[in-house]
Amino acid sequence: MLIAQLTDTHIRAPGSLAYGVVDTAAFLEDAVAHLAALRPRPDVLIVTGDLTDFDRPEEYARFKALTAALPMPVFPIPGNHDSAAGLAAAFPDIAARAAGGKLNYAVDDFPVRLVMLDSSVPTAPHGELGDGTLAWLDAVLAAAPARPSLVALHHPPFATGIRHMDVQNLRDAAALETVLRRHGQVLALVCGHVHRTVLAAFAGRPASICPSPAHAVSLDLDPAAPPTFHMEPPGLHLHRFADGGLVTHLSFVGAHAGPYPFFGADKRMLDGTA
Ligand SMILES: [Fe+2]
Repeated sequence: MLIAQLTDTHIRAPGSLAYGVVDTAAFLEDAVAHLAALRPRPDVLIVTGDLTDFDRPEEYARFKALTAALPMPVFPIPGNHDSAAGLAAAFPDIAARAAGGKLNYAVDDFPVRLVMLDSSVPTAPHGELGDGTLAWLDAVLAAAPARPSLVALHHPPFATGIRHMDVQNLRDAAALETVLRRHGQVLALVCGHVHRTVLAAFAGRPASICPSPAHAVSLDLDPAAPPTFHMEPPGLHLHRFADGGLVTHLSFVGAHAGPYPFFGADKRMLDGTA
């Protein structure tokens, strides 16, 4: 099973650039073309929040239009730039999977169970699951202890060292860790929010942050660093499940020179002298 993860697309209404600089829709177009061309084709796409820049209906509509041609099912959760209500209104099929209010839902259609968590807090940049979502997660995982599972949420429950982002990460990380420690079938935790690839361990298993296909939060580990972004190579994550294990690849979006063969027609390694 191949799970593609896209995050922090920050789509805006036509004619406007994020922060006056970033044409996020053009970057999403490139990412969609990249996803559609991948072989083998990902079985599913998860989108870990900040689909939109301002939680506006026209931004969700544009996100949906830009991703409509994707051949795989798309499962989004809200980030701090979205809202549960806004995303639910734009994706009634997703809202129907959740119990109402928080957009928590599990996808049971694949070899890996996808457990999607809503960490958004209305009008606040930080994340919080709250007692309701934590109880829901505990019960959902307890109901299928033998099903390999991937847990997804927008806000990372660990510090990255990028201070201005860490102050708006998941507030109830300790409570999430307590729940996950009870459920050994959770293979990994995947997040967004920080717009760059970050790898960590959380609750004794791999945890990762997926890059954005658009702008990257600047890698500046000075605690006094101002909030800035760089236009780094756009990317997304591919989580490959095989033989009971999960491996995560960073896939750069865009045209890159290659493929170049390692071996010549004579099956010998090319040494560059011929
Ligand atoms: Fe974001």
